[in-house]
Amino acid sequence: MKFFLDTADVEQLRKAVEMGVCDGATTNPSLVARTGKPFEQVIREVLDVVPGPVSLEVLSLDTEGMVAEARDLHQRNPEKVVVKIPMTPDGIRAVKILAGEGVKTNVTLIFSPAQALIAAKAGATYVSPFVGRLDDISHQGMDLVQDILTIFANYDFDTQVIVASIRHPMHVVEAAIMGADVATIPFAVIEKLFKHPLTDIGIERFLKDFSRVPKD
Ligand code: E4P
Repeated sequence: MKFFLDTADVEQLRKAVEMGVCDGATTNPSLVARTGKPFEQVIREVLDVVPGPVSLEVLSLDTEGMVAEARDLHQRNPEKVVVKIPMTPDGIRAVKILAGEGVKTNVTLIFSPAQALIAAKAGATYVSPFVGRLDDISHQGMDLVQDILTIFANYDFDTQVIVASIRHPMHVVEAAIMGADVATIPFAVIEKLFKHPLTDIGIERFLKDFSRVPKD
């Protein structure tokens, strides 16, 4: 399973790349706003640091506007840029046009298996089911991921599943057990993935014991 960082924060991205846990990145308008930087600067910095696919979201709500924004984003770095498109009828029309032009897309704000199926049929490169936001309203977010993976396997869709809106390490572990293609993970959750209290206790004990080893 690939690890994407769910952030537009270039320092977090740099740290994750150094630790070897950043295969790509996803951003959204809220994450860009959190950086306090202009969008153009964020695009440049993120594309510079991240070694793999970078999802950048369009703001238009109509097909023509989305396609125009997507073409502009795509030409910045055709290899890396993935255009994030919201799951609406206009968005799906845009995905179909962009798929025909070889522009990679990530259909975002997916909350049902039917939405994922439609996005895949339109030729989306990725779909992003938002598990945390479903959990927040007392649904089982990870059940949606399992349903989408089953549907895509039934019909051999090439569309990859990005588990999004991840809130904690168990979302990541469950995504991997289910065989999701990608988990897009906030930096704080990445840090938690490294942690186990027995690891810390073990290191402390080894160092304490070794301090009793006679010097040469
Ligand atoms: C996905 O690509 C989104 O950026 C993200 O996962 C949304 O997560 P949130 O529910 O924490 O805002």
